[in-house]
Amino acid sequence: EKGGYEHFMLKEIFEQPRSILDSMRGRMVAESDHLMMAGIREFENKFANASRIIIVACGTSWHAGLVAEYLIEDLARIPVEVEYASEFRYRNPIISERDIVIAISQSGETADTLAALELAKSKGATIFGICNVVGSSIARATDAGAYTHAGPEIGVASTKAFTAQVTVLTLIAMIIGSKRGTLETTKLRELMVELETIPAKVEEALKLNEQIIGISEQYKDATNFLYLGRGYNFPVALEGALKLKEISYIHAEGYPAAEMKHGPIALIDEQMPVVVIATKDSSYEKIVSNVQEVKARKGKVIAVVTEGDTTIPAMADHVIEIPETSEHLMPLLSVIPLQLLSYHIAVMRGCNVDQPRNLAKSVTVE
Ligand code: F6R
Repeated sequence: EKGGYEHFMLKEIFEQPRSILDSMRGRMVAESDHLMMAGIREFENKFANASRIIIVACGTSWHAGLVAEYLIEDLARIPVEVEYASEFRYRNPIISERDIVIAISQSGETADTLAALELAKSKGATIFGICNVVGSSIARATDAGAYTHAGPEIGVASTKAFTAQVTVLTLIAMIIGSKRGTLETTKLRELMVELETIPAKVEEALKLNEQIIGISEQYKDATNFLYLGRGYNFPVALEGALKLKEISYIHAEGYPAAEMKHGPIALIDEQMPVVVIATKDSSYEKIVSNVQEVKARKGKVIAVVTEGDTTIPAMADHVIEIPETSEHLMPLLSVIPLQLLSYHIAVMRGCNVDQPRNLAKSVTVE
């Protein structure tokens, strides 16, 4: 059942070229400009005219929501708020009939996410679900939705569900953007062509496995980790830190790289591994200076960079090279080495990676 892999988590990490493809298959054909999601079709006008999109989720699904905030605001120019379902539901939120509320949930059973959605529904918002489990409670409660086609995710730490969520959210941002005219046809076409190359590029990124085993050996005894990213890679930093803490029990924090100087920089010394996601994108120059700040304090930098980069490799202690892609799609690639890093460190520490202590696959209590 683990298909020859030692753990479900590793199997699921390696399934991502396929699960990403399955999540876009039939919804997009780049050569013919075809972009269609049955779940959205009926609501296209509602989406296009929405005054605001509110995303509610928990954990890793909330991180996928943060990626979607960057995507939808950039490509479709609709304001997006990303909310922890548990906070949203209890703070008397302002919700109107022109709002669209998107719930993201792998299991479709997360109690807080379901309750947040029901609250939004009672206030007249249109509610939309992005779930992996067909027929789950959240899927049934929504007006419409789009399934991620990741297949069953057994490992408690979410991996392939995250990349499937980001894939579906990318398609949604492209559909709304093209409907609203904020995403030009040429740009749309470019993104579609690029998205079609992602499964093969994820396959490339998975070849980093051996190199990451080596890095894991060196840092498996660390007691703290910092993860830094900017722009589209900021949510990836949060996700990398969550993966590490939940399965290896090493304390880790994700931060927007520029926020480091407002506090966490005090933590940096020669004992502190800092994972920096520094791919070539619009914030590249800025993150170069953040890496310098870390090195000036003798932190150990593990950098995830775009193939061919020479600037960051000249400063970093370890360099993980991933293929080039549009910054809009980068989280689908940059998260892969972070999933592998947390997996190997956890295995080396003797942790039960598929069933970490205190955690359950679906959190049906609030
Ligand atoms: C992290 C993880 C959790 C879930 C969270 C939401 O690896 O698995 O943080 O992402 O409990 O679960 P779903 O997506 O099922 O609502």
